[in-house]
Amino acid sequence: MATEQKSPPVQPAHPNDFARGLAGVVAGRTAISSLDGDLRYRGYSIESLASGGDFEEVAFLLLHGELPSQAEHAAFSKRVHASAGSGLPVATMETASSGMHAVIDALRGLAESCPKASPMDALRTGVSMLGQVELDHIPGTREALLAQGERLIGQVPALLAAWMDLSAGRSIDPWPDGSIAKALLQRLTGRTPSAAHVAAFGTTLVLYAEHEFNASTFAARTVVSTGSDMHSGITAAIGALKGPLHGGANEQVLEQLCAIGSADRAEAWVTEQLAAKRVVMGFGHRVYKDGDVRAKLLGKMCRDMVRGTAAESLEDLADRVEQIMLDRKGLKPNLDWPAARIYHALGLPVRVFTPIFVVARMSGWTAHIIEQIGDNRLIRPMSIYCGSPSRDYSGLAHRE
Ligand SMILES: CC(C)(COP(=O)(O)OP(=O)(O)OC[C@H]1O[C@@H](n2cnc3c(N)ncnc32)[C@H](O)[C@@H]1OP(=O)(O)O)[C@@H](O)C(=O)NCCC(=O)NCCS
Repeated sequence: MATEQKSPPVQPAHPNDFARGLAGVVAGRTAISSLDGDLRYRGYSIESLASGGDFEEVAFLLLHGELPSQAEHAAFSKRVHASAGSGLPVATMETASSGMHAVIDALRGLAESCPKASPMDALRTGVSMLGQVELDHIPGTREALLAQGERLIGQVPALLAAWMDLSAGRSIDPWPDGSIAKALLQRLTGRTPSAAHVAAFGTTLVLYAEHEFNASTFAARTVVSTGSDMHSGITAAIGALKGPLHGGANEQVLEQLCAIGSADRAEAWVTEQLAAKRVVMGFGHRVYKDGDVRAKLLGKMCRDMVRGTAAESLEDLADRVEQIMLDRKGLKPNLDWPAARIYHALGLPVRVFTPIFVVARMSGWTAHIIEQIGDNRLIRPMSIYCGSPSRDYSGLAHRE
């Protein structure tokens, strides 16, 4: 049983006594997910959730702590769907009261002046603005936080789809009926997706939904540990996820595969990368040193999905790179490796890959924010000073 030091003594650390990148440091407790050997969300194995659950079911589990009953699932899906549709043209649903109208208007202005801006930046800005227009200043009650989390889970995919329309100079299409997986896939591809494609896309959302104290989740927890609000925590989390060592890796995976081009060029390309001490995106993980269980699950699904299609040649190339990385570095793929290929096979543009990760991880982030607020202590680590020795100040007038 882990023990918690409520008030550890604050002492200067030994000069070499720190973990670079906090590797291996246990920074707190969580009841949301565990990575001890296998990955579990609130006790349920990721294999069972990925094969049996839809994203709404998993998001409910992460936020509320238990799997929903059928009635709870239906009500939750309806609330999330209404939040997605609020502020957008909608045909068939009630709209939730929210600041989406104001945010979409502001994004419209930004899209006109800067249409090439990254959708990740648009989401970070959009969530930050939502906090402002919804007057999210201080953490409320647990019930208020849960409602806020649910609202954000619906609003963020709609903001992403709206930004893609606006930045392409189009008017915003209505938010379609159906699950988040179906509606978002439809909005981002412009086509009604097949049931098989919705299922594959939904599985990626489930796999991306939560992952313990990763960098973006820790950023969100750090922000709200100061007493700040949920939108501020999510804004920080989106900024952290954008980096290529974290969520941004899935976009770079596809760019790298396209740069290699074909399986026969893989050996030379990987050799050049490693010789230049550049990382190969989609490989390695801070916690999983013997492979990422999510990558195994999704890799198999990806190969099954693209068999007999034009995307199959990319799988041959991916297999070749995997083998070379294993032989040369002993490194196995992480989730971003198959996720990028699945998104490509689904016809999604590369620039929405990481934003889709945001859509999924909203469920984990909001759950962690609520958990942090519910049992808070300011997150404030220490550092070892490694700068100049003590020296005396002399005023500007005495310096040339
Ligand atoms: C995820 C990542 C940041 C983890 O970093 P980390 O825990 O600090 O990495 P490790 O300590 O396990 O690295 C061990 C060695 O493998 C190397 N390595 C790790 N991942 C590598 C990769 N993807 N390509 C090439 N080399 C890699 C490191 O450079 C290091 O080499 P060294 O011993 O010669 O210095 C790192 O693996 C990475 O940059 N991967 C690519 C980006 C990516 O896919 N991110 C998504 C993560 S889910």
